[in-house]
Amino acid sequence: MAYNKMETRMITIKEENIEEDSIESLLQEAGEILKRGGLVAFPTETVYGLGGNALNRDSSRKIYAAKGRPSDNPLIVHICKWEDIYQIVEQVSEDAEKIAGAFWPGPLTMILPKSQMVPYETTGGLDTVAVRMPSHKVAQKLIAYAGGFVAAPSANISGKPSPTQAKYVAEDMDGRIDMIIDGGEVGIGLESTIIDLTVSPPQILRPGFITQKMLSEVLGEVETDVTILRADSGQVPKAPGMKYRHYAPKGELTIVKGPREVVVEYINSEAKKADLAGEKTGVIGTQEMLINYRAQVVKSVGSREDELSIGKHLYTILREFDDENVTKIYSEAFDTQGYGQAIMNRLLKAAGHNVVDLTI
Ligand code: TXA
Ligand code: MG
Repeated sequence: MAYNKMETRMITIKEENIEEDSIESLLQEAGEILKRGGLVAFPTETVYGLGGNALNRDSSRKIYAAKGRPSDNPLIVHICKWEDIYQIVEQVSEDAEKIAGAFWPGPLTMILPKSQMVPYETTGGLDTVAVRMPSHKVAQKLIAYAGGFVAAPSANISGKPSPTQAKYVAEDMDGRIDMIIDGGEVGIGLESTIIDLTVSPPQILRPGFITQKMLSEVLGEVETDVTILRADSGQVPKAPGMKYRHYAPKGELTIVKGPREVVVEYINSEAKKADLAGEKTGVIGTQEMLINYRAQVVKSVGSREDELSIGKHLYTILREFDDENVTKIYSEAFDTQGYGQAIMNRLLKAAGHNVVDLTI
């Protein structure tokens, strides 16, 4: 299905102004659009979402069309109050109650058996449904005004990084959806953790801000899908969306792993060669290492001391390298423990698992 070209309205709502009357009526209007089957992009604490009514099959079809996304790739249903989960999930397990108690509202998505109410268009034909309760106040109110169930993938064209700012939503979605709510830059910048509760032990299908350690403190044993950090595992990822090459920058991205000085030396010498060959070279580095690099475009993704800052800027930087037409990009590697696992998972996907390992 192709999308219908339309006028996209952009409005601004900051989380801190959420209680104002004029804001309330804007959110009500946005909720009405969703109820009528239209599409509204909105901020969440992770990334911007592209919302449609999750219980309306035509809305889900429209979401796939606007994103240019394969329709076997299921959508996450966003709710704003716990009781609503009983309407869309067939059997709410004890584990679901436990982790909702610990992490909702927040950047965590659970996979559970779906109820009859959820159309197969929303779940990509699966008998399970992904459910998340976001903590962002704008998202919460919008979901309430929309009737409680908002299907929302990340608000990017399929194959581009998830948008962390409204201007990137507009870049991808202008003319394709009814409305964009600009709530400023998001806080986290990487998509929610996804945990599958239909298997035992529960399995993490996508790493995120809520880490394996945090989840196993609440649930006991928790596994991680082996495809998350490996290219050669020979297995298909369990979250359908994870099998798609999420994002390929226009330039060739190489991750360089090893002791810091060795990494710097390697990147500088490769960048010099590429430079002479007429390439436009770029480096994704950490704040601490930045002054050491010699390339045409050198960008800080954040500080080694603060993994949150790295997660928050990764997608923005990848978009910037595209805008600046950089053809050869080199990136430092990150720790694969804790939150670093989410960062490396996204970086590895962007690099198509192109890693140079200089570890001695
Ligand atoms: O942080 C987030 O989760 C953001 C914001 C907007 O909430 N949303 C998001 O949605 O990242 P999306 O559609 O870009 O990613 C959803 C992922 C896909 O990889 C999809 O395959 C997987 O969730 N998924 C959805 N339903 C599933 C199901 N029933 N079983 C397995 N994987 C599922
Ligand atoms: Mg996405």
